[in-house]
Amino acid sequence: MKGIILAGGKGTRLYPNTIAVNKQLLPIYDKPLIYYPLSVLLLAGIREILLISTPEDIGNFEKLLGDGCQIGVHIEYEVQAEPRGLADAFIIGEQFIGNDSVCLVLGDNVFYGKDLTRMLKNSIELAEENGAVIFGFPVKDPREFGVVEFDSDFNAISIEEKPQEPKSHYAVPGLYFYNNEVVEIAKNTKPSARGELEITAVNNHYLNEGKLKVMCMGRGISWLDTGNPKGMQKAGNFVKTVQEMQGFYISCIEEIAWRRGYISTEQLVSLGEKYKMTEYGQYILSLVEQ
Ligand code: DAU
Repeated sequence: MKGIILAGGKGTRLYPNTIAVNKQLLPIYDKPLIYYPLSVLLLAGIREILLISTPEDIGNFEKLLGDGCQIGVHIEYEVQAEPRGLADAFIIGEQFIGNDSVCLVLGDNVFYGKDLTRMLKNSIELAEENGAVIFGFPVKDPREFGVVEFDSDFNAISIEEKPQEPKSHYAVPGLYFYNNEVVEIAKNTKPSARGELEITAVNNHYLNEGKLKVMCMGRGISWLDTGNPKGMQKAGNFVKTVQEMQGFYISCIEEIAWRRGYISTEQLVSLGEKYKMTEYGQYILSLVEQ
């Protein structure tokens, strides 16, 4: 399976922070936001990655992440000239995807918790067997999100984008697994009333064909909102608190790459040396001593 990170958009809900800097390059406590969705792909075992961003910002992502070899993965880059919608990722990424299945993660989504890795691995298998896998995450007010409605056996009945009257409390996070059909489905999707190729339209297509699985993220998993300054601050506080209390870092891509065997101990140490003036770098160096 291949992975796409969609990291474009205008970030208007964060203005003036995002006038000169792409939202996904802003820090969530001690590392750029983009590290968090990238770590999800690494945990899933996905090592061929396409990062999509705006013409103005793509160079900065390349500066940050390069071709990915330092963390044992391969990262390619494509430009999205205008924010035409999330499903546009599969049209832009058509060549990159080739005949493979694909996971899309939104550049501003942060996940953390127990069983995440197992859930990701199961999702790959399920999507390759059935068609598509999305998630349901309980939130108090789901009106800002895609919302999935279930029957009593947790089979999906409907998915709506930002409904005024949500039919459930389950938001659909920005993490989606699809088989190869997604490219053709995206190409045949019509823009919505707000002019976007909606991911919800793609998911509804799979739902109508009986090829959509919805997995519920339970209490053990945190999905953090970074949509506005308060959300970013809260996410930063969460990361700081967990890291200080447990001593384990959240979404340290260098650590994940090393633990997964994508890079050697020597490579890990040289990454740690590069950042050794920060607690982040010292944490990386401490991993080897442990
Ligand atoms: O975060 C989960 C939600 O993400 C889902 O529940 C919704 O169903 C889904 O539509 C999406 O809603 P948002 O309103 O949060 O999407 P937003 O337009 O903010 O875009 C999410 C990220 O994708 C953001 O980092 C910008 C980037 N993006 C967005 C669009 C529309 C692009 O790179 N290109 C685009 O064309």
